[in-house]
Amino acid sequence: MSVTELVYQKCIRPDCGHTLSHDDTSFACPKCNGLMDVLYDWDRLPVPKSLKEFEKAWQTRSNPLDFSGVWRFRKLLPFVPDEKILTIGEGQTLLQKADFIGKRIGMDAGSLFLQYEGMNPSGSFKDNGMTAAFSHARMTGARRAACASTGNTSASLAIYCSATSQMKGIVFVGSGKISYGKLAQALDHGALTIQIEGDFDDAMHQVQQMAKRLGVYLVNSINPFRLEGQKTIMFRVLESLNWEVPDWIVVPGGNLGNSSAFGKAFLELKALGLVNRLPRLAIINAAGADTCFQLFNHDGLRWQGGCWDKTIVDRYYRQLDESKRRADTLASAIEINRPVNLPKALRALDAMDGVVRQTTDQEILDAKAMVGAGGLGCEPASAASVAGLIQLRQEGVIAPSDRVVCILTAHQMKDSAATVAYHGSDPKTFEEVLGVRGVRRANFANRPVQVSNDLEAIVRSIEIYS
Ligand code: F0G
Repeated sequence: MSVTELVYQKCIRPDCGHTLSHDDTSFACPKCNGLMDVLYDWDRLPVPKSLKEFEKAWQTRSNPLDFSGVWRFRKLLPFVPDEKILTIGEGQTLLQKADFIGKRIGMDAGSLFLQYEGMNPSGSFKDNGMTAAFSHARMTGARRAACASTGNTSASLAIYCSATSQMKGIVFVGSGKISYGKLAQALDHGALTIQIEGDFDDAMHQVQQMAKRLGVYLVNSINPFRLEGQKTIMFRVLESLNWEVPDWIVVPGGNLGNSSAFGKAFLELKALGLVNRLPRLAIINAAGADTCFQLFNHDGLRWQGGCWDKTIVDRYYRQLDESKRRADTLASAIEINRPVNLPKALRALDAMDGVVRQTTDQEILDAKAMVGAGGLGCEPASAASVAGLIQLRQEGVIAPSDRVVCILTAHQMKDSAATVAYHGSDPKTFEEVLGVRGVRRANFANRPVQVSNDLEAIVRSIEIYS
């Protein structure tokens, strides 16, 4: 029996439960327009007896599928035959102990870890999902792939498209919203780049219509096969912790794909008897793009066994439209007001006893500078996780002894304008780049020193400042 006969898609709403075959690429329930899950017939698939079994793949790293930090866990995402998998060595990531930050925020030594996804081929966590989406796309014979993006998804799509050399990539970005580092990647890897007049939410709406009309394979996280790949971020966290479940996972929330994937990963591990408990989940929104925070904390939106109240969400979006409120944050990667995976994130919050917080651009940039000083470079959106952790420590929700993993979603070089403005000594640049968004102080600035072209002056400066 082939693997694909044991895989299908199912609408996440239990009161609908419509199913589709594994090779359907509409990525929406035809009955209720809800989100789809990838499900497996675990009774007939080979399930590992314990997570430790995955350590065997370390000995066979010359096989690219065992080298990949995604596919060495392929028994837990068995939707694709090995020969269709497209890997470019994604997922070579590290879980780094972060006592440098932990100490500053009153955590016990050895309890804070940063999962650094900036080491992926395109520099962000997206590659975990993109390798899965492209492997599925190849199974279905797709010739073109598209996404809307704040920049990282498009960079990742572009790199995987160029690696297949058979598929054309099409990316939709909001005009003026994308950082140069990310735009450069889409252009350099040859994706057709469409800058639409509007923001990410507009681009997301348009790309879905376009994909349907032209039959283009969509790789946004509404594609449930992409989320299968993102589950492996959690598998690698567990692997690094010697298969012990941490107390907390803290993750930035944008389109809520990661949060959704993490919830599914742990629900499946629990159902398969591979873990005995779930960590708690903290989703961190930017204050200027805080739909999940508002709906969860103020409007009381909950999963409710899958029967979440859509009228609450519709009312919230109506209010956004009426007040013409647009997402607005320096953490451009998570500048999203209409997260497509909201229902799946509600499921994850329910299963993982989750919380949602929002954090200001000032807090995000200060947290980013702390991360940088501690030895890891991340982009602003990534640091939302650490800014959120600081808040949850101050509230006492996270205890000093809790074992916490913050996800650092992307590399520092992705978006350097804000970093340079933050650390720079030029008040005009600071005001122009950061002040407009309410950032007033660079609390952890490492200012460049201006010095004349003269050895004596240079030596004097070094003696003063070092
Ligand atoms: N961090 C970074 C660096 C991101 O690029 C994104 C999303 C997120 C966090 C949020 O993750 O959507 O799973 O909640 N970026 C998307 C993009 C939207 O188009 O690159 P999420």
